[in-house]
Amino acid sequence: MLRRPRVPASQVLDRVLVLEMVRVTEAAAVAASKWIGRGDNDAADAAAVEAMREALNELPFDGTVVIGEGERDEAPMLYIGEKVGSAQGTGPKINIALDPLEGTTLTAKAGPNALCVLTISEEGGLLNAPDTYMEKLAIGPGYPDGTIDLSKSVGHNIRSIAAAKGVEPNEIIACVLDRPRHEDIIAELRALGCGVKLISDGDVAGVIAVTDPDTSIDVYLGSGGAPEGVLAASALRCVGGQMQGRLVFRNDKEIARARRWGIEDLDRIYSLEDMAKSDCIFAATGVTDGSLLKGVHRRTNCLTTESIVMRASSGTVRRVWAEHHKWDD
Ligand code: FBP
Repeated sequence: MLRRPRVPASQVLDRVLVLEMVRVTEAAAVAASKWIGRGDNDAADAAAVEAMREALNELPFDGTVVIGEGERDEAPMLYIGEKVGSAQGTGPKINIALDPLEGTTLTAKAGPNALCVLTISEEGGLLNAPDTYMEKLAIGPGYPDGTIDLSKSVGHNIRSIAAAKGVEPNEIIACVLDRPRHEDIIAELRALGCGVKLISDGDVAGVIAVTDPDTSIDVYLGSGGAPEGVLAASALRCVGGQMQGRLVFRNDKEIARARRWGIEDLDRIYSLEDMAKSDCIFAATGVTDGSLLKGVHRRTNCLTTESIVMRASSGTVRRVWAEHHKWDD
């Protein structure tokens, strides 16, 4: 029997998959939204994971999760290495980085900026970041190359950003996760007179906020999840901006985990292009209202969602507002 050649991934990424991605993040957001403000992080996460997995498995590709819910022994679904998609062995080979619910606590407490997030690329297009922390430094588009440098101090970076923007350092607004481990960074920012927006969770939205002038945030700094770092980097790769990340290891187990994913240089500083190496599509749907997207709203006869989907190679950014009249609860 004649076998049809596989369609190259590059051809399907755009036309076929751009809008399909939104269906996937929408499904996860709708499922998680039932748990907004219900105080149950795990139930919210489980609902999003299950819905995202089901939606991914309907798509006609040969997908592999490269950033997911954890390693196989820790995560029953959407674990790293799990195969998803309905065209295994025949469809285009796609790598997927996902966070079915970015902001489980935000959802449980009905806080802002909880998102369902997904990035797809051709095979090998995304850094296989282990589930450790990552130091992150990000700015939006329009700055000269080399404006930020993670190997330098907070003060150096703030002065460099201010000089490139043509303002004084005390006019720079920074976004930082509100954690005791960031006390020194926050103290340095305050000493420079910067404005500091402290967020309780959700650094994917925090990083992306630097690309949106309406947020007034100039720079994101501090450590958070490495998987979230790669997701945020892929978003910046689509809309522009600069980002650097360095993995942070808290114990030997995390180092061993990184080595398993082929990471030799533990101190390496990753650029945006090291994390999102080639063309990719980033999609997100809001679960709770936030700076990037409105959350899921339940009306008397329908649900509404807002999503964003963008592609690196074309730079196209689409916002999708949807009304859902049928959904599973
Ligand atoms: P959850 O989705 O697990 O609630 O995590 C959200 C988050 O705030 C991420 O955005 C961030 O990268 C990470 O947790 C920070 O980790 P930690 O809470 O350990 O500081």
